[in-house]
Amino acid sequence: MGRMEGRIALVTGGASGIGKATAELLAREGAAVAVTDVDDEAGQAVADAINESGGEARYWHLDVSNEEEVRTVVEEAAGDFGGLHVLVNNAGIVGADKPPHDISADEWNQVMAVNVNGVFFCTKHAIPHLRKAGSGSIVNLSSIYGLVGAADAPPYHASKGAVRLMTKTDALHYAGDGIRVNSVHPGFISTPMVRGFLEGQDDPEGARKALIGLHPLGRLGEPGEIAAAILFLASNESSFMTGSELVVDGGYTAR
Ligand code: NAI
Repeated sequence: MGRMEGRIALVTGGASGIGKATAELLAREGAAVAVTDVDDEAGQAVADAINESGGEARYWHLDVSNEEEVRTVVEEAAGDFGGLHVLVNNAGIVGADKPPHDISADEWNQVMAVNVNGVFFCTKHAIPHLRKAGSGSIVNLSSIYGLVGAADAPPYHASKGAVRLMTKTDALHYAGDGIRVNSVHPGFISTPMVRGFLEGQDDPEGARKALIGLHPLGRLGEPGEIAAAILFLASNESSFMTGSELVVDGGYTAR
C-alpha cells in the first residue's frame, strides 16, 4: 500500500522542477493529485503522464497570486476528488537579482505576490477543506534563503523568510484542527529556476562551480530529493511534526 493511499493533494507550480517531482511522487504513493500551474502545456503533460502510469491526477490553471482563481480552483479540485488533505505551496519565482537600491517597487511586489500572497491565498482557501477532512498537512516551500542571507535576490530572501514564519503561525492556528504545517528549506536544486538564475550571472559556468562549492556534499540537489522530504511531511510518517523546518541542503547551512 502506498504511503499516500486515499489522500487528496493539491500542488501549486506542479508543471516544473520540484513541484513536478512532488506531484509524480505523491501520485506514485497513491494520492489523487491536483496539479496546478500557470504553464498549462507543461502542467497538463504532468497530469497526463501520471494518469498514463496508473495514477490519478487532473490539471488546473492556477495563478497563485490571484485570490479569486485560488478560491475557484481549490473548490473545484476538492469537489472533483471528494475533499482535500494535503496542500503543497510550491509555486515560486526568483525575481529581481540586484541590490535593494536598484529594485523597483513593482519588482519587489511581483515576488511578494507569488511567493508570499500565493501561500497565504492557497492556505486560506484550503483550510476549510482540510478542517472538513478532520486532518491535513500543508507543506510550504521556503528555502535556505529563508534561513541565511546571501548578496543576491533581496525580494526572494524576504519572501522565503516570510514563508518560514507564516508556516509557524499557521501551525499554531490550526494544530487544534489536526492540520500540520511545515516548511521545507532546499539548498540549490537542479531545476529550470536555478538554471535561469545561473544564466543571468556574468559567468554562468563559474557561478555554477561556485554554487556547488557552497554545498559540502559537492553537488546541486535533485528535485526528487526535495519531493522525498515533501512526501514525508505530507504523509502520516511525520504525524508529530508541525511548525518545523526541514532543511535539505547538502550541508549548505551546516557551517
Ligand atoms: P521552477 O521554476 O522549476 O518551477 C516553478 C513553477 O512555478 C513553474 O512551473 C512555474 O510556471 C510556476 N509558477 C510561477 N509563477 C506562478 C504563479 N504565479 N502561480 C502558479 N505557478 C507559478 O522552480 P523550482 O526550482 O522547482 O522551485 C519550486 C519551489 O521551490 C519555489 O517556491 C522555489 O522558491 C523553491 N526553492 C527552490 C530551490 C531550487 O534550488 N530550485 C531552492 C529553494 C527553494
